[in-house]
Amino acid sequence: MSSDRLIIFDTTLRDGEQSPGASMTRDEKVRIARQLERLRVDVIEAGFAAASNGDFESVQAIARAVKDSTICSLSRANDRDISRSAEALKDANRARIHTFIATSPLHMEKKLRMSPEEVLEQAKRSVRFARNLLDDIEFSAEDGYRSDLDFLARVCEVVINEGATTINIPDTVGYAIPELYGNFIKSLREKVPNSDKAIWSVHCHNDLGMAVANSLAGVKIGGARQVECTINGLGERAGNCALEEVVMAVKTRRDYFGLDVNIATEQIVPASRMVSQTTGFVVQPNKAVVGANAFAHASGIHQDGVLKARDTYEIMRAEDVGWSANKIVLGKLSGRNAFKQRLQELGVEMESEAAINAAFASFKELADRKSEIFDEDILALVQMESSNTPEDVFRFVSLEQHSETGEQPQATVVFSREGQEVKASSSGNGPVDACFKAIESQVQSGAEMMLFSINAISGSTESQGEVTVRLQRAGRVVNGVGADPDVIVASALAYLNALNKLHSTADSVPAQGANAI
Ligand code: KIV
Ligand code: ZN
Repeated sequence: MSSDRLIIFDTTLRDGEQSPGASMTRDEKVRIARQLERLRVDVIEAGFAAASNGDFESVQAIARAVKDSTICSLSRANDRDISRSAEALKDANRARIHTFIATSPLHMEKKLRMSPEEVLEQAKRSVRFARNLLDDIEFSAEDGYRSDLDFLARVCEVVINEGATTINIPDTVGYAIPELYGNFIKSLREKVPNSDKAIWSVHCHNDLGMAVANSLAGVKIGGARQVECTINGLGERAGNCALEEVVMAVKTRRDYFGLDVNIATEQIVPASRMVSQTTGFVVQPNKAVVGANAFAHASGIHQDGVLKARDTYEIMRAEDVGWSANKIVLGKLSGRNAFKQRLQELGVEMESEAAINAAFASFKELADRKSEIFDEDILALVQMESSNTPEDVFRFVSLEQHSETGEQPQATVVFSREGQEVKASSSGNGPVDACFKAIESQVQSGAEMMLFSINAISGSTESQGEVTVRLQRAGRVVNGVGADPDVIVASALAYLNALNKLHSTADSVPAQGANAI
C-alpha cells in the first residue's frame, strides 16, 4: 500500500521516555499528548500499558483526552501485554495495538532463547490475538535491520496474513547506513508477497547520528510510508529520529520526496519546549529546527543577505515552525483578557477558568518583578502552574540567602509541609547547595540528585532562570521544574516540585517501567 502521504508516528511518550531520566508523570504525559494532537501527529504511542499500573493509567488517560490522533500502546508478543493494551485503549476514538518481537539471530538466541521457528509462531499467534481485539495492528520486528532478510520476509508475510496493518522495521541499535537501510526495506518489501496489504514503517535509533537520514532513506528508497520519531529526538542512548527534522526535511524538500505530511508545523517549537521543560533534556543551541540558533544569523555577510532577501540564507521560515520573535508581549498593565488571548495564540489550553485565574495571578506577580514579559516567560509560568497540583505536600514560602567572597554561602528556606510552616537553614558549597541542604535537613528524603540544570529562559541576565532537578529514590526518577528571576528561588521551587512528585502515589511506579522490554 503506497500513498503520497507520510504517516507521522510519535513515540516521545514511549521510546522517548525510555531515555534514562526522562520520566514523566501521567498528567505531564497527557499535556504533551494534547500538544502532539495540536501538532496533528497521526499516531501517538502513549506508552507500554503492561509495563506497570502507572503506564497503563497514562495510556488510558491519553486515550480519553485525545480525540484527533490514533492512540497506540506497545505490547510484547504475548496475550497478557496485548490484552492490557486493548483495555487501556478502550475509550480511544481511534486505537492501535503495537506488538513486537525480536527477529535478529543475536536477539533470538541470546535474549529470547528461542528458535526462529518459535519466534515466527509467536509473532503469528500474537497478531492473530491482537486482531481479534482491534482492527489497527502494528507489528515490529525488533532489531529488524540486523535480521536475516529471508527469515524477516517470512515473518512479515505471516503477520500480514494474520491482519497486521502496519509493519515496522526498526534499526534498534542505530547500526544502519542510509543507503543500506533504504535498500534493505526495498528488498524486504519485494520479497514479501503480500507487502501491498500493509503500510511499511521505519524506526531508527541515533547511535551513529544517522537516525533521520536512515528514516528518510527508508522512505525514499524503501518506500516506507510511516516514520516513527520523537520530539527533539528524545530516546534511549543517543535517541530516536527527531520528528521536527524529518517533517521539515520532507516539507522543505517536497520536490525530492513528493510526499505530504499532515503536521501543523507552527506547533513544532511549542512541542519541543514542552518536552524539554518537562524532562529536563535541554535542546542544544545548534540543533536543527528547534535549537535556539537554528535561525540566528550572526555573521555580517549572512545578516546582510537575509535583510536583502530572506531566501539567500534561509531555507525555512522561523515562524513556520513556531518561533515567535523574542518580543515583549505583555507587561504589568496587561489585563486578564490580553493574557488569555496570548495563551490562545501560544496554543496553550488551560483546563478551566480557575486555572487561567491562577496563571494570571502568577503572571501579575512576575510582571511586578520583571518589566518585560516574553512568550518564553508565559510558557514557563504555565508549565510551573501545571506541574504544581492541589495534592502537593511541600510549598515554597520564602528564601533568604547570603554569599560573600571567602565565606561559606548560607540559606534559610521557609516552606510549608502539609500546611505547616517549616523554617530550615544550612550552609553549602554554593548558594544552591546551601538551599537544597536546608530543605533536606527538614525533609530527609533520602533521594539522590541525578541532575541539576539551569537555563536563562529568554537569553539575558534579566531573564528568568529555569531550573530542572532530577531526583532518584528506590529506582524511581522524577524531574522537578522551577522558574523565577532569582535563580536560587527557581532552584528551591524545582527541588520542592521534585519532592512533591516523589511523594505522590499517583505515579509511584518506576517511570522506567518500559525497561522491562
Ligand atoms: O527500537 C525498537 O526496536 C523499538 C521497538 C520496540 C519498536 O522501540
Ligand atoms: Zn526504539
